[in-house]
Amino acid sequence: MRCPKALTHRIVFHVAALLPLLWLLWDLSQNQLTANPIREIQLRTGRYALTLLALSLACTPAYRISGLRQFLDARRPLGLYAFAYASLHFLNFMAVDYRFDFSLIREDLLEKRYAVAGFATYLILLALAVTSTRGWRERLGKKWKRLHRLVYVAAILGVVHFLWQVKADATIPVIYAIAVVLLLAFRLPHLQKALRKNNSKIKRQRSKPQLKT
Ligand code: HEM
Repeated sequence: MRCPKALTHRIVFHVAALLPLLWLLWDLSQNQLTANPIREIQLRTGRYALTLLALSLACTPAYRISGLRQFLDARRPLGLYAFAYASLHFLNFMAVDYRFDFSLIREDLLEKRYAVAGFATYLILLALAVTSTRGWRERLGKKWKRLHRLVYVAAILGVVHFLWQVKADATIPVIYAIAVVLLLAFRLPHLQKALRKNNSKIKRQRSKPQLKT
């Protein structure tokens, strides 16, 4: 039987990931999505996707620092939620904004540099989502890990897409860029080694029998 605490954590996790969508639907139903709701949906879904992608990248460093396995378990669902919000973002662009006018969509996707970066990010997220199952992991063997390192490329391209589409104040995209650079820094061999050492220390401490006082 599943531990009730673990079940509660799961429920809280999924509710938290779905909350931005519920908030968006609520604002839509209340006509609270600014004077340009299509653009507002585009901006919000884009930000949710990038935030969840960054959070999925933060899971491994968080695990190495804290030793909590829950962070590792959260990586895949966070990545899938990022993909789901990115799909809503793309769907809003194609179906609502461009009404499936494929000649216009193609023009944008090939000519506007921010759209090219966004589309490339989406294609990577799609490939990662499709191959995120256990079956694909087993089928791809060692190649799976290499393929899934593309998540870092997706995060960089996502930030580039954000920076390139910004029209005035670039503060928020720059904050996202700094966050992604910091998360990439955790991949540096020196830091990886230090974090692994810290992780093993935590594991050893946890496995020691607790002394009763
Ligand atoms: C599938 C291809 C994509 C297209 C065609 C696309 C298109 C767009 C458009 C039209 C905007 C709004 C530009 C504006 O009105 O100023 C936008 C903004 C944005 N997109 Fe995308 N996008 C794509 C993929 C992605 C992906 C995969 C992500 C994240 C992982 C993403 C994250 C963002 C962010 C963060 C913003 C800015 C939000 C803000 O300013 O608050 N996009 N995108």
